Amino acid sequence: MPSTQSSYFQSYPNAEGYFGQFGGNHYPPELRPALEELASSYEELRQTPEFQQTLNKVRGGLQGRPTPIHHLENISNQVAGAQIFIKREDLNHTGAHKINHCVGFALLAKKMGKNKLIAETGAGQHGVALATAAAYFGLECEVHMGEMDISKQSSNVGRMQLLGARVVPATTGQSALKDASDSAFNAYVEQHEHALYAIGSAIGPHPFPMIVRDFQAIVGREAREQFISITNGSLPEHVVACVAGGSNAMGIYSGFIDDPDVALHAVEPLGISDELGQHAATLSYGRPGTLHGARSLVLQKDDGTSADVSSIASGLAYPGVGPEIAMLHETGRVCIAAISNEEAISALFRMAKFEGIIPALESAHALAFAIRLASRRPSSERILVNLSGRGDKDVEFVLENYGTGA
Ligand SMILES: Cc1ncc(COP(=O)(O)O)c(C=O)c1O
Repeated sequence: MPSTQSSYFQSYPNAEGYFGQFGGNHYPPELRPALEELASSYEELRQTPEFQQTLNKVRGGLQGRPTPIHHLENISNQVAGAQIFIKREDLNHTGAHKINHCVGFALLAKKMGKNKLIAETGAGQHGVALATAAAYFGLECEVHMGEMDISKQSSNVGRMQLLGARVVPATTGQSALKDASDSAFNAYVEQHEHALYAIGSAIGPHPFPMIVRDFQAIVGREAREQFISITNGSLPEHVVACVAGGSNAMGIYSGFIDDPDVALHAVEPLGISDELGQHAATLSYGRPGTLHGARSLVLQKDDGTSADVSSIASGLAYPGVGPEIAMLHETGRVCIAAISNEEAISALFRMAKFEGIIPALESAHALAFAIRLASRRPSSERILVNLSGRGDKDVEFVLENYGTGA
């Protein structure tokens, strides 16, 4: 959990779940009791030593935390600018940062007397992490996934099924992440009495964005301490994360948000081009609107409905963004950048060939921007990237569509 001493965390969200003008509770009225129960149970349970002890035990043994920080010496030397470091969330059990909040939600569900977890997934990383946490805590698990993503991320579908989860295809719209979220949200409305929605990112109505951020804050806490220890007392000048809803970004930002000298960068997918429908760069091109129960920035058509999106990274193809990131962008605390499919692919090849690490396509966006930033900054500066996941799930897709990068 973030430190209660932090002035930022004492201020956001406010009592109504708002981060500035963004956030709040824009959900169907029948969900009000379920979300109030979740907010009060979370407030009560997070304070108890037993909750913290169980979480720490699972994070250590099942997940493999703490994850290390690693210096990308080869790429940094090639670029001959700022030094790039990565926080290795790819080394979490199940291959991405998503498990940080999945084990938290599973423990909450257990303590609240629920017997089932429901969620949406894009790339399948959240679904696999949730299925893992559900198996460990003895809960049922139902994961909604767009049909298009089911065929693209088939290895993750098999993993979820092996772990005992039911994968429900979402067939509306583009059959991708937004449609999976719609479908999971509807399932939660129907089943909230015995099920908890373990949302996949820092999105949705209050208290979801706050809970996801708090469970992900372990990344930033560890990273801050590790960075200070590696550098004998310094902080990075830049912290970089890719953003869809903002769970990995808020995780790593949490460790540095009260340090005004640390620049925070959010990297969005520019997909094929900057034309509406060809990207998912919500912070760059979105307008205020309401999506999945919260007010935030949303990529919208002229009639106000959410636009189609496109990205090679399924986990980034979302027409909204978490309300906290939207606020941090509006206040100027977070700088934004957009990375195209081609740039992300070449960062993936470069990482594989020169550092021996195959990143997830989502994380490759953050790396591509870090490489660009490093080339423009002096060698005295340090850039810390949240390497949110590993690329095993993407190998087949990359080989089929882009070859080996040789
Ligand atoms: C590896 C990885 N990184 C990043 C993301 C983006 O999500 P978020 O913005 O919540 O971190 C995903 C989503 O599926 C993912 O799988």
